[in-house]
Amino acid sequence: MEKKLQELKDEILDKIKSIRDANILSELETKYLGRKGELTTILRGIASLSLEEKKKIGSLANSIKNDIQEKFNEIKNSIENASVSDDFIDVTLPGKKFRRGHLSPLTIVQDELEDLFVSMGFLVADGPELESDFYNFEALNIPPTHPARDMQDTFYIDKKNKKGDLDMVLRTHTSSVQVRTMQNHGAPLRAVCPGRVYRCEATDVRHEHTFYQFEGLVVDKGINFSHLKGVLKEIGIKLYGPETKVRMRPKFYPFVEPGVNIEYTCFICGGKGCNLCKKTGWLEVGGCGMIHPNVLKAGGIDPKAYTGFAFGYGLNRLVMLKYGIGDIRLFNGGDLRFTEQF
Ligand code: FA5
Repeated sequence: MEKKLQELKDEILDKIKSIRDANILSELETKYLGRKGELTTILRGIASLSLEEKKKIGSLANSIKNDIQEKFNEIKNSIENASVSDDFIDVTLPGKKFRRGHLSPLTIVQDELEDLFVSMGFLVADGPELESDFYNFEALNIPPTHPARDMQDTFYIDKKNKKGDLDMVLRTHTSSVQVRTMQNHGAPLRAVCPGRVYRCEATDVRHEHTFYQFEGLVVDKGINFSHLKGVLKEIGIKLYGPETKVRMRPKFYPFVEPGVNIEYTCFICGGKGCNLCKKTGWLEVGGCGMIHPNVLKAGGIDPKAYTGFAFGYGLNRLVMLKYGIGDIRLFNGGDLRFTEQF
């Protein structure tokens, strides 16, 4: 038994001395020292020896087992230390490129328009996206039972105002900022209000539930429709080039009187008619009109002394036309192949 133990010890030490792989070492440790390992099996056999032999072989076997275990630990440590020192940085390898973010096309066009309006003396106003029913509808001449509410169905929020009414909505248009801005700044006033709006809408290539608008208003003495047309023309030229023409056709909005839509000559066919403009030569991008006297009153402005105009563009639509984007849902889709093109 003594001889057998010595031979096994030599065999194990010889086998593990050159191992540099932690997994192989661990496998061998189980093979020899594990519960069903070769050395463990021999040690179990000691129980059947005579008392004298048990003493002699027992202490030899234990010292062999300790020597082997010690060697396993030593090699294990040296493998671990070697792998730490192997973890060096190779400065000659090619670098990792950091991906820089960039502006969305909506922000690019919004910034361009803001610059244009600031250069014409407008201020840029902001308002909350979670808006009261008052600013989104009532102050804009749309009372609770008015059928015009159907045109802009929205999301009502389960939160009561101070009077206990459920009156918070996700704003359906940036016109909600009109009355707030009039109340804050009074007349005369030139302001633009860009921002995100929401509608309870079945989506398709031209309609989203979450999109952006770009609103503007001017209030002063003697403001008339030709001023409005002049501003819309400037925007058309800025976005689509010097040949762009503007057209307005009557459209009902409760907060303006008269109200019209905004159309530009199609920038692809120059007004001749193509697939984009459905052969009409014109593209509809927003609504506008002379501010209704009731809205001026709600803003604290005397409609007998002041007149004003307001307009509201669908910013997504302006951007779609500028860049030839065929589906509005791409803006919120989160597909980098789309976003990275701008
Ligand atoms: C309005 O929202 C009015 N507040 C605009 C206005 C302002 C009129 C000031 C008069 C005076 P309308 O619902 O038509 O109007 O929307 C304006 C523009 O927003 C549309 O021409 C269109 O370009 C865009 N738009 C409307 N609904 C959607 C939608 N679901 N998805 C994407 N764009 C939309």
